[in-house]
Amino acid sequence: MNYQRPKITVIGTGNVGATCAQYCAMRELGDVVLLNTTSRRDPPKGKALDMAESAPVFGFNVKVTNATDYEETADSSVVVVAAGMPRKPGMSRDDLLAANAEIVGNIAKNVKATSPDAVIIVVTNPVDAMVQRVFDAADFQKERVVGQAGVLDCARFRAFVAMELNVSPLDVHAMILGGHGDSMAPVVSCASVAGVPVDQLIPTERLGQIVARTRLGGGEIVDLLGTGSAYYAPAASTAKMVKSIVRDENRLLACVAYCDQEYDVGGYCIGVPVVLGAGGVKKIVQMSTTQAERTLFEKSLEAVKANVAKLRELTKPTEDETKETEPSAPTVS
Ligand code: 2OP
Repeated sequence: MNYQRPKITVIGTGNVGATCAQYCAMRELGDVVLLNTTSRRDPPKGKALDMAESAPVFGFNVKVTNATDYEETADSSVVVVAAGMPRKPGMSRDDLLAANAEIVGNIAKNVKATSPDAVIIVVTNPVDAMVQRVFDAADFQKERVVGQAGVLDCARFRAFVAMELNVSPLDVHAMILGGHGDSMAPVVSCASVAGVPVDQLIPTERLGQIVARTRLGGGEIVDLLGTGSAYYAPAASTAKMVKSIVRDENRLLACVAYCDQEYDVGGYCIGVPVVLGAGGVKKIVQMSTTQAERTLFEKSLEAVKANVAKLRELTKPTEDETKETEPSAPTVS
């Protein structure tokens, strides 16, 4: 029998990419390839080798290798895009738009050429706009590109509720809709501890503080680290999405996905509840919210739309390019 493990390519070998690669290897989700096309010197190679050398200690049996060009990543099952600039203290995720749009556009074209059937998980910020950038730059089926944001935002909320109540974070369940910005829309009305609604366990004012802390959770870590942004929880969240895809787990996770009629979004990429499995997005789940939560979602959508307008202005093709290429929208399968 010729069994082939899934190939998981992680593009970008900074803190998020490298940590995600290590988590994927430790869970034996597939053979992991770390791609960094900008650094031909040793650090990415050193990271891959360092991880491979941890295999006997952690007890995992998958390959971890380094690549410097896309050919070596060909036919990946999953590609994690973690390349680009992280934010520094005082910056919002949106401040990264111009710097990261070009990087992510190039990655999208190269992945399309070498791993056309891969599911792409975008982590680079501002993530909602960067998922849109992948669709704009290369023609992918709408199911095949998702962004990591909601798993992390939900994890932060779950961790804060668990700390508040001194209960296991595993028992806290939550869903957060909208963009991965300070305007994200936590659906507090459906948050629970093992089925007990959180608003029965935490007074309203205190719950409001936890929601606010969740919204600003990325910035809190940026300020504490002083040199970059969070990576342990973002990497763990991304690895959870990789696992759901390569093991076809059908986890219901908050992911950035292309939505048209869903939630009346009208053709943008934004955080919604997604059934994630083999092939990517199997379903976008429509959930009921309170009117206040719906209003928050709509505000968040406006912020995402404004970012996408800026993105498209920045990446507008010149007249010559326009003649050569039709603008792309996600392929609807
Ligand atoms: C965060 O929220 C990096 O966007 C990521 O920490």
